[in-house]
Amino acid sequence: PEESGSTPEGTLTLGGVSVTALAEEYGTPLHIVDETGLRRQIRRFIDGLRERWPNSEVLYASKSLPAVGMYRVAQEEGLSVDIAGGGELQLALAAGVDPARLYFHGNAKTEAELRMALDAGVGTIIVDNEDELDRLERVITRPQRLLLRVIPGVEAETHASQATGGNDSKFGLPMDQAGHAIDRMRAHPLMEFEGVHLHIGSQILNTRQFAQAVENISSVGTFATYDVGGGLGVKYTYDEQAPKVEDYLDSIVQAARAHLPAEAKIMIEPGRAIVARAGVTLYRVVSVKRTGKVFVAVDGGLADQMDIALTDQRYEAIIADRLTEPWTEEAQLVGRQCESGDLLVDRAAFPPARVGDLVVMPTTGAYAYTMSNNYNGALKPAIVFVKDGAARLVTRRETYADLLATHEPAITAPSGQ
Ligand code: LLP
Repeated sequence: PEESGSTPEGTLTLGGVSVTALAEEYGTPLHIVDETGLRRQIRRFIDGLRERWPNSEVLYASKSLPAVGMYRVAQEEGLSVDIAGGGELQLALAAGVDPARLYFHGNAKTEAELRMALDAGVGTIIVDNEDELDRLERVITRPQRLLLRVIPGVEAETHASQATGGNDSKFGLPMDQAGHAIDRMRAHPLMEFEGVHLHIGSQILNTRQFAQAVENISSVGTFATYDVGGGLGVKYTYDEQAPKVEDYLDSIVQAARAHLPAEAKIMIEPGRAIVARAGVTLYRVVSVKRTGKVFVAVDGGLADQMDIALTDQRYEAIIADRLTEPWTEEAQLVGRQCESGDLLVDRAAFPPARVGDLVVMPTTGAYAYTMSNNYNGALKPAIVFVKDGAARLVTRRETYADLLATHEPAITAPSGQ
């Protein structure tokens, strides 16, 4: 995170708060977000796009960190919000996000969800397919703005599970089927068709691919709005390079100048590039084994870092309360879930680890909390935002009572907590 430092004793500070104090107050595993860096990054996107293309809008892809406190920050900073499903709609509404600034995504929205979105006054629905149009026709009772998701035919250079813009994608309609859906929307008295949407995938480091998608989509037609999705990748490991936000914006806007109508509105919807680098996960070392390898096991793992398995994402980690000590040992940083794939960092360079050490995994602000789950009875971690020397709890840690709450017959008095 941008606002990080060290105490004289060699303990990492984030937003001016030491990780030791955070661990004591909130426990571990803990997601910590540098709010100052986060807000600065949001403004880089909003101001950067507005300078280059005044008729523009930046959405926050809220699936990347769907905490009510995060929706509030997004709204305060002037982002609109991308929601993917009834659950994210509820979270955004609970945060007080203006429904007119919500964009409802998803390739399998149910009739109940569409009705909920219409009742809530969701500003724009991104239609994925004609079955969804059938359902919309049944529930629509007032004018509704719509975009159509189109497959731009760009196979993003990223993990296969994160590529969504190739011709065989499950998301959106192929360009040659878009016309029919657009005709249907234009013919309907309550459907206000505004334009097209695309999203080629996530953790994309080659900015030319975004420009290519803009060029490809221009062949679908001339519209008022082009939403060119999210997907800008970030730097995770020491040896990786990621494009600057400004270079990404340049590449999109150059393609827009060449291929899109000058009066069109351009939208982008970053998630990862907004929150990933502002967030870290804090763990405590529970056991250290020196067999042939050195295994450093912490009190979380796969259950709170799903993408170590889902997308094979690689991370770095540091022992955060002994920063001044030399990194003389190569360790496998492992979690506590019952999988050998529960490997947080392969070959981490650490000072010789000890039980009780605090470990920080950087660049976990996006897609970690949101995909955390109860595997092995794990409790979803808490989220704190730190800023100017103070911490505030944004999402509390799950409790054993939360874990028991959905099971029947109802259990009212959990023991041991
Ligand atoms: N717009 C749409 C329609 C999306 O589906 C997504 C992400 C975004 C925007 C934001 O993309 P971003 O800027 O964050 O790359 N589970 C994966 C990530 C899945 C991304 C899903 N869609 C992971 O942990 O890496």
